[in-house]
Amino acid sequence: MSTPAPPELFTWEFATDPYPAYAWLREHAPVHRTKLPSGVEAWLVTRYGDARQALADQRLSKDPAHHDEPAHARGRTGIPGERKAELMTHLLNIDPPDHTRLRRLVSKAFTPRRVAEFAPRVQELTDRLIDGFAARGSADLIHEFAFPLPIYAICDLLGVPREDQDDFRDWAGMMIRHGGGPRGGVARSVKKMRGYLAELIRRKRAEPGQEPADLISGLIRASDHGEHLTENEAAAMAFILLFAGFETTVNLIGNGMYALLRHPVQRARLQESLAAGERGLLETGVEELLRYDGPVELATWRYATEPLTLGGQRIAAGEPVLVVLAAADRDPERFDGPDTLDLARRDNQHLGYGHGIHYCLGAPLARLEGQTALATLLTRLPDLRLAADPAELRWRGGLIMRGLRTLPVEFTA
Ligand code: HEM
Repeated sequence: MSTPAPPELFTWEFATDPYPAYAWLREHAPVHRTKLPSGVEAWLVTRYGDARQALADQRLSKDPAHHDEPAHARGRTGIPGERKAELMTHLLNIDPPDHTRLRRLVSKAFTPRRVAEFAPRVQELTDRLIDGFAARGSADLIHEFAFPLPIYAICDLLGVPREDQDDFRDWAGMMIRHGGGPRGGVARSVKKMRGYLAELIRRKRAEPGQEPADLISGLIRASDHGEHLTENEAAAMAFILLFAGFETTVNLIGNGMYALLRHPVQRARLQESLAAGERGLLETGVEELLRYDGPVELATWRYATEPLTLGGQRIAAGEPVLVVLAAADRDPERFDGPDTLDLARRDNQHLGYGHGIHYCLGAPLARLEGQTALATLLTRLPDLRLAADPAELRWRGGLIMRGLRTLPVEFTA
């Protein structure tokens, strides 16, 4: 029996709903070589077991220097528009032992406790943003809510003064809008952000924030066996926290709210449990929303440092491997009824935050923001409803992240 041809990837239909294509790949070509829109050839890994194995395999390096296309690899930081070496030494671009050292240092400053102490501020930001449209009876939840919330939150956490935060919002907006598009504006925004952060670090080094200090002061102060972050490393770290923690969280809130709006029974159950003062369903629910329609699509580059076999497929040294988290998280071999949204799902070891040594450093912050955002929207605007035909909603076709461009809603003001 002949196998049908692979589905066309990276089309408009794919951006809108990639899951049928992922199901095909999982079944017929679980480790599949494809040409990305950038022209680069890479292996896509779509089964849960292979994905988890690949994420933990030390023969798969995060360092672009291992890519077999040197011209392409040169200067690749994973940050759109960023071609300079200064920001290269960030966690998502390096392997042990450098990764181990930097991750240990940043973990001393970016602790779960610091995130927990930040909860009232996230609630305040969330309420302030909702206040901005609550009386109007309609809103675009991406532009007015999901987009500004993470950028203000991370700026606050880093210690960017309030009066400068709108600049960050604009630079980040440029990056999110044109991530895969015109380079000029993005490169300028990255340059401005880099310059600003370098200056802020110099200022904080001269005059560290008082306890409880901001995260940049914490990064400067963090030491491990007498070792500190260099100024460049601290700047790269601040930048990667912004970069890794921004669009991901926008899409967690956007995709998550969209899924809830399309699953009224599940959503009503969550509203009832929130009204009863319970947190359990909110917590399992946000994990399930990440599994069901997670923000990270192909942002998991790795390069084979030696020939290896994955899912029965030979991969040559230097070839890029992309773990498709969204495909792995719908694998029926791992999840019962993977295409069903079940906010109460147990045994939900999804890969939305990755796995292994690069497991998302910001997961506690993402959870805090996701839970606060969704719970507050559903509580303050209980009859929130979609104000557009789902077929007309546009998804960003960036491939790295999966998220809506707009999410128009209506509610009783
Ligand atoms: C790493 C997802 C939010 C900071 C990762 C990885 C994933 C991920 C999949 C691993 C990538 C790989 O292995 O190649 C997400 C999702 C988020 C989110 C789905 C929101 C829903 C955040 C936030 C921050 C953050 C809020 C920080 C403020 C990082 C950092 C890394 C990382 C620094 C690199 C860790 C390392 O290489 O050791 N994230 N992330 N993320 N994330 Fe997140």
